[in-house]
Amino acid sequence: MILLQIPEHRRPCDVVVIGLAGHELELPGVSTTALPVSAAEAAVAYVNAESPDARAGRIATMPLPGQVPSRVLIAGLGDETAADLRRAAVAIGRAIRDLGAVQRVSVAIDAQSFDESRALAEGLVLGSYKFAMPASADDDLQIVDLIGAVDRAGLTAGDEAADAAGWARDLGNTPASELTPARLGELAEAQLTAAGCSVSVRDEAWLADQGFGGVLAVGGGSASGPRLIEVSYRPRRGRAAPPLKHIVLVGKGITFDTGGLNLKRSGAMRMMHTDMCGGAAVLGAIQYAAMQHLPIRVTALVPAAENSVSGTSMRPSDIISQFGGRTTEIGNTDAEGRLVLADAIAYAVARLKPDAVIDIATLTGAMKVALGLETAGYFANDDELAAGLERAALTSDEAVWRMPLEHKYVSALDSPVADARNDPGNPGGITAALFLQPFVKDVPWAHLDIAGPARALSEGPIFSRGATGYGVRLLASYLETTAR
Ligand code: BES
Ligand code: MN
Ligand code: ZN
Repeated sequence: MILLQIPEHRRPCDVVVIGLAGHELELPGVSTTALPVSAAEAAVAYVNAESPDARAGRIATMPLPGQVPSRVLIAGLGDETAADLRRAAVAIGRAIRDLGAVQRVSVAIDAQSFDESRALAEGLVLGSYKFAMPASADDDLQIVDLIGAVDRAGLTAGDEAADAAGWARDLGNTPASELTPARLGELAEAQLTAAGCSVSVRDEAWLADQGFGGVLAVGGGSASGPRLIEVSYRPRRGRAAPPLKHIVLVGKGITFDTGGLNLKRSGAMRMMHTDMCGGAAVLGAIQYAAMQHLPIRVTALVPAAENSVSGTSMRPSDIISQFGGRTTEIGNTDAEGRLVLADAIAYAVARLKPDAVIDIATLTGAMKVALGLETAGYFANDDELAAGLERAALTSDEAVWRMPLEHKYVSALDSPVADARNDPGNPGGITAALFLQPFVKDVPWAHLDIAGPARALSEGPIFSRGATGYGVRLLASYLETTAR
C-alpha cells in the first residue's frame, strides 16, 4: 500500500522519480534535498546518452550505488495531458510497489491543475494496487512524498477515486467462497457506513414479501441466499437549500455465475466470480460521492445472488414475476443478470423517485465480441445522460461506446406465456438492453454492459490483471459533473 503526502519539510529518500517530456528532464521542482546537484547532473547526462523512451507509461531506472537516493526513476510523461500523467503515474505506482523494501519515495512531477493532480494521484494509487488474500498487513506501507507543484484538492480527489476503485477490484478478485451475497452486504455496510452513507441489506423474506421474483429465482439454487443491498448518500445541508438531483445506480451483483441448469462450460465459468463487478462499481462510486461530499443524492442498489445448480434452481421454462408484476419466461438460466437488474430497476423507479437510473453489469458475452475487452457498450434513452457519460469517459479515461436501442429487435423478446423471454438471441447486447428498457418506464436511463472491461487478462495502461475496477471512476466523474 502507498500513502501519498505533501511533505512539510523536504527530506532525503531512497528513490526519486523525475519526469521526462520529449528529451527534456523536468527538474525545476526537484530540490537539492531530494536530489543532490551531482545526481541531477548524472541524470541529465544519462538522458543525453541513453535517450530513454518519453512515452507515458515508460520508465527508465538509473542506479546511484552507495548514494542517497540510491536510484532515480525517469518517467516518460507523453504529452503531459491529464490522461498521459495518469498513465505515467500508473507505471510509477507499479515500479514503487515492485521496489518492495523501499520505504520512502519522492515524486518530483508537477501537476498544477486540479485535473492533473487528480490524475497523478489516481495513477500512483491504481498502479500500486495488489490483490492479496488475506488482506496484507500495513507493514508494507510505502510513503510517497509529492514534491512537485501540486493541487491539494485534486490529489485528495484522485486518492479517493483510486481508493474506491481499489476496493471494487478487491471485491471483484475475492473468490465466491468468501464473497457470498450476504458477505458482500456486510462488507458494503461496514465500508460505506464509515463513509457516511446509510446501508440496508434485505434478506430473502423481505425480497419475497416485496415481489422480487427475479432475484429470488436466480438466487434460489444456491446455499448462500440472495440479498438486496441498498446504500444511500445525501449530503448534509441547510433546510433552505434547493432540491438535489437524485441518481440511482444499479449494479449486477452475481457473486458467481455457473450458468445455472444451463451450465457454462469450464472455460466460460472460470472467471465468473467477477460477475459482481457492476455491483462493486456502484459501491465504489457512491463511496467516492460520500468522501467528496458531492452536492447530489445517490442511491446504489446491488441485487446480489449466486447463480448456482441444485434441486431448487430455476429451470428453463419457468415463468417468474418481476418486481412490479411484469412476467418473464426463463428460456436460459444463464441469462440471469437481466433478471436481477429488472427487479432492482423497477424498484428504483417505483420507490425512489430518481432523476436518472444508470445500471452497470457484466451482462453479455456479445458485448465483448462487439467492442473488445477495454470498452463498455452503453445504451441510453436520454441524450443528455449519454452526453454526461461521454464526458465522464474522457475525464476518467474509461472508454465507452454508445449502442442503439434498436426497436426492430423488440419482437425477439416475444413470449407466448409471459411479457418477455430472457433469451431473445442476437444481437445479444442490444436485446439484453431492450429486455431491461420496459422496467425504467420513461425515467432517463443508461445501461452499461461491462462484460469486456470489468476484467483483464494482463496489466494494461491503467487496468490491473483480474478485476479492473472499471466503472468506479467513470461513474464518480459522472456524479461529480452532474452535481455541479
Ligand atoms: N455473466 C455473463 C456474461 C459474461 C460473459 C460476462 C463473459 C463476462 C464474460 C451472463 O450472465 C451470461 O451468461 N450471458 C449470456 C446470455 C445468454 C445466455 C442469453 C451470454 O452472454 O452468453
Ligand atoms: Mn449468466
Ligand atoms: Zn452473469
